[in-house]
Amino acid sequence: MLKVGPLLIHRLFYPQVPAVLSTQHGGKVSAMPVVSYASVSDLPPLVAVACNPRSFTCKLALKASSFSLCILDGHHAGAVAKLATTSGSKVKDKLLDAGLSHRPGSKLKVPVIRGADATLECRLKDHWKLGDHTLLVGQVEAASASGAFKEFWDYEKYHPLLYTGWREGLTTLPGV
Ligand SMILES: Cc1cc2nc3c(=O)[nH]c(=O)nc-3n(C[C@H](O)[C@H](O)[C@H](O)COP(=O)(O)O)c2cc1C
Repeated sequence: MLKVGPLLIHRLFYPQVPAVLSTQHGGKVSAMPVVSYASVSDLPPLVAVACNPRSFTCKLALKASSFSLCILDGHHAGAVAKLATTSGSKVKDKLLDAGLSHRPGSKLKVPVIRGADATLECRLKDHWKLGDHTLLVGQVEAASASGAFKEFWDYEKYHPLLYTGWREGLTTLPGV
């Protein structure tokens, strides 16, 4: 077995399905793909996301005290890649800039991406600085999914985006 250094440990978890974390505050909309997320409680429903505190979206989410998480399928690989390579500090609406239209959340003032396969509206419940990341914990106030989800995903209809970690690493399952 080879030793794995600390900066490579997160890559052992790949491939992972990215979500897009979006938020809005003070007339700005920002968003970024994230893979360091988890469902951490069912009742109440809580999700946690580890964010680089230097990312514009993380700073905006802390100011807004809310964010959405959207799961986009493999057809949106280009837009998701663009969200990862540009900074929300440079544009008024980073989602529109990446070609993703959005609507207001049903419960919270968060941008929800149109055409997403799943959407979660999260009220910021807590946040901690942990090591070099900030852990955002959100209470899910509304969640919805496309017809591709009943109690489980139907993979005939839902073709998840997968992140392999390579630079051009946004892909889908083979055969999609
Ligand atoms: C697939 C993918 C997953 C990512 N996951 C995370 C993550 O979990 N946490 C994080 O802080 N950054 C993550 N990033 C990096 C941010 O998306 C990236 O730094 C982004 O440009 C930040 O934009 P902002 O400064 O406008 O917020 C990921 C990037 C990619 C491509």
